[in-house]
Amino acid sequence: MIYPDYVKIVEVGPRDGLQNEAKSIPASIRIELIDLLSAAGLPVIESGAFVSPKWVPQMADSDKVFRGISRKRNTTYSALVPNLKGYETAIDAGVKEVAVFAAASETFSKTNINCSIEESLTRFEPVLQRAREDGIAVRGYISCVLGCPYEGEVEAESVREIASWLLEQGCYEISLGDTIGTGTPKATQVLLESVQQSVPTDKIAVHFHDTYGQALGNVLVALQAGINVVDSSVTGLGGCPYAKGASGNLATEDLLYMLNGMGIKTGIDMDLLIQA
Ligand code: HMG
Ligand code: MG
Repeated sequence: MIYPDYVKIVEVGPRDGLQNEAKSIPASIRIELIDLLSAAGLPVIESGAFVSPKWVPQMADSDKVFRGISRKRNTTYSALVPNLKGYETAIDAGVKEVAVFAAASETFSKTNINCSIEESLTRFEPVLQRAREDGIAVRGYISCVLGCPYEGEVEAESVREIASWLLEQGCYEISLGDTIGTGTPKATQVLLESVQQSVPTDKIAVHFHDTYGQALGNVLVALQAGINVVDSSVTGLGGCPYAKGASGNLATEDLLYMLNGMGIKTGIDMDLLIQA
């Protein structure tokens, strides 16, 4: 079996992790966490979300977080934006990379961002256009790629179509989100084979929540399919307030342990990660 030499770990703890905490964490502590993660060598840290504070109060003050972090030259600090308003606030706060987030399930789309899948894509168009003009890189997420908390099974074909649209509109990377962690290795393989028909492998990332302990097995299948960008969250923090059953993300330290054991480079220092 051939595995990639290097895997880029996208740390989502300060966003996906903290958005799901019962109590909002003060900006100062969020900043400290991000600085510890960058010191550990994480190449990409999703550091906040410019969403409605009424919908996700835990992500309020993301502007303060971006203004307070000690930026390292080789670290990318990104943020989620659901619409142009979020994009503009993010850019004002000094954000240099953003992510838009769609879903492969209509009910989840409506519950999470209050619009249909089609409407969400229409809403992203001006964001992607502005980002192109501003020279800002945009990542595209798709949620519920391996199951929806409301609709159950999700067709790989629907995921492929949305991924293809996001790519055509200029997203440089498509992160496939198993929001509720119901995917198993075989389902992951089927999904990836479908998405790879429309999206080059080097533009696909995987994002597994670990509800049923399937995340590392699914990552292994993704690595075997040639994918070398994996999202994870320090200590396995995570979840989505609008997806019942979305428990923590795959823990960054568990992912790193597996990759280290397989001799795959990441540039991350385990001891410093544990300190974070
Ligand atoms: P809406 O209520 O339909 O929006 O929400 P609206 O345009 O009608 O605006 C309502 C109010 O929100 C207005 O304020 C707007 O100004 C304000 P009011 O006049 O009532 O005072 N507003 C905003 N405020 C700050 N920033 C903004 C913004 N936009 C509008 N950007 C909306 C629509 C999309 C805004 C809302 O549903 C929302 O913010 N949703 C975010 C949900 C979310 O963050 N979910 C978690 C992230 S997704 C995830 O975790 C999955 C992922 O990890 C991958 C995976 O695991 O699958 C990425
Ligand atoms: Mg997530």
